[in-house]
Amino acid sequence: MKVTVLTLFPEIISGYLDASIMAKVRDEGKINTEVVQIRDFAQDRHRSCDDAPYGGGAGMVLKPEPLALALDSVDASSKRVVYPTPSGRPFDQDYAGELGKADELVFICGRYEGIDQRIIDEYVTDEISIGDYVISSGEIAALVIIDGVYRLLEGVISRESLEEESFSRGLLEYPHYTRPAQFHGRDVPEVLLSGHHGEIQRWRLLKQVEKTVKIRPDLLEQVDITEEIRNILGELETARKGE
Ligand code: ADE
Repeated sequence: MKVTVLTLFPEIISGYLDASIMAKVRDEGKINTEVVQIRDFAQDRHRSCDDAPYGGGAGMVLKPEPLALALDSVDASSKRVVYPTPSGRPFDQDYAGELGKADELVFICGRYEGIDQRIIDEYVTDEISIGDYVISSGEIAALVIIDGVYRLLEGVISRESLEEESFSRGLLEYPHYTRPAQFHGRDVPEVLLSGHHGEIQRWRLLKQVEKTVKIRPDLLEQVDITEEIRNILGELETARKGE
């Protein structure tokens, strides 16, 4: 896969691309990245890339001409072009998987109040929101999406980890522990030291259901409720009534 990022702040993107697993995966040739400075395509002598909105209002809007030239320079018209925006389609695990099938993704990082609508109409295939809140950096939103997508690519993280994640699909994760067995007076749950695989699996599922009921009960509506989960839900309900 190739990931191209158009931005006014290449250093934010490079800081991430050049670190940790992403850098390793890139060096191994599993992903190819390109960062394009939008300002290099500004046409006036001040190299300005933003302007006041027509119709008035607060903030500045990214001008269409530099963005269009930057997009044309990477042949974006034939590619999947992502524009992260709070008014986009919500990003989730299924959407990450869908984007992961593309050969190439081009990201436009907005700043200020956003980008000229005509760029969206002409080039953007995916307007994506990373959540119901507003952040000031389109770069950070783009990196969230890039991270969610590239880790699903073949050979980036272990198949086992991905499988575990997909098993936990719809439920929140169970808690993790590592050595030492006692830390600040807190013990690792006994069952995890037992070596009994079946009991460990059951305990983990119990913790997943418990946490989901407590923090994200809305998720349960989409979960495939197996008999085991139904039993756990029953036990939790009985325990709740007995409190
Ligand atoms: N830019 C600013 N806030 C955003 C959000 N919630 N999602 C995507 N892009 C954004």
